[in-house]
Amino acid sequence: MLAAPVPALAAPASNAADPAPADPAQTDRGSHGRTPRDLRELAHKTGVRFGSAVDVAALRAERDYRTVLNREFTHVTAENAMKWESVEPQRGVFTWADADAVVENARRNGQKVRGHTLVWHNQLPAWLTTGVENGTISDTELRKILRDHVTTQVSRYRGKIRAWDVVNEVVDDDGAMRQTIWLTHLGPGYIADVFRWARKADPHVKLYINDYNLEWNTAKIDTTLAIVKDLQAKRVPIDGIGFQGHLGIQYDYPGDWANVMRRFTDLGLEAAVTEMDVRMILPVTPEKLATQADYYGRALSDCLSVPACREFTVWGFTDRHSWVPGWFDGEGAACLFDESLAPKPAYRRLLATSRP
Ligand code: G3I
Repeated sequence: MLAAPVPALAAPASNAADPAPADPAQTDRGSHGRTPRDLRELAHKTGVRFGSAVDVAALRAERDYRTVLNREFTHVTAENAMKWESVEPQRGVFTWADADAVVENARRNGQKVRGHTLVWHNQLPAWLTTGVENGTISDTELRKILRDHVTTQVSRYRGKIRAWDVVNEVVDDDGAMRQTIWLTHLGPGYIADVFRWARKADPHVKLYINDYNLEWNTAKIDTTLAIVKDLQAKRVPIDGIGFQGHLGIQYDYPGDWANVMRRFTDLGLEAAVTEMDVRMILPVTPEKLATQADYYGRALSDCLSVPACREFTVWGFTDRHSWVPGWFDGEGAACLFDESLAPKPAYRRLLATSRP
């Protein structure tokens, strides 16, 4: 089934596909040289892929949204279009059009794609959760369903997706394994299974574990490190750690983030900032925007200080389509561009940021 076409747009400032050079050591992560004109140029300068989550409805309907997305970003993540409820709303009935639209737009605009996400406890299709709840889906059948899902989705996008968030948010804030339907019905071995199934479906894609609050939550960090070490001991393929990076200026900046990144990259993993945004209690003021800019700038500096951190993705680039207001009452303005797509101080701070 062909994806509903996304109107072709003017070529971005740089046509280079994935302009981030292969080796960060070959790039200028230093401070000299003029300020880059956009994030694509910053990507080329630093070797870090700058990405954004993509709202597929806006991608289709809003020319100005597409223009900024394709001008600024060398990397994209489907905000919702690749989640299980989106791609298989009825058992065995696949609806790839939205996910395909994100991938096709990326192909046209020289962007790499992060797949989000294969195994999560949220946004599962109702036929699956209901079947597990009422017992019509046995544990044995559930494992087969999960294997078929991972295999089908990774195979479909083989060669078109650079990295997958294979598992998302599998550790609770108290450091315990999150009690999801996967853990409850399949046991802790499900994590190794899905990484192996993903690798079998695509021998080259990077395989990530992704979570929030890994920037500072010691209990969560320690358990996630233990999971990674256990997978590596069992020779289970895992390539990267995703730090979602959902911050708020009403909280302290996670000052040890770079050291946390290093604890994972010292194990041989890539690190990625996968869902960065910095919300604030409304109304917006110049002082709050200045603090927000500091948080974005510090996060990029932390990433630049860790050679294996090669991705900096924001969870939506405009306040027009941010998830925050719907989830945090009275909060918002979390993105780099405002509702009218005007750049905010945080955007300019990123352009001005280089190796600390
Ligand atoms: O598609 C339906 C639409 O048909 C319906 O009319 C509408 C009203 O109910 O809901 C729409 O679904 C919404 C979906 O986003 C698509 O817009 C869901 O209600 C809404 O809950 C869902 O929210 C998403 C959220 O994950 C769900 O947990 C956010 O957009 C998305 O930004 C957010 O992203 C997550 C990452 O995947 C994982 N990390 C945390 C991050 C923020 O929660």
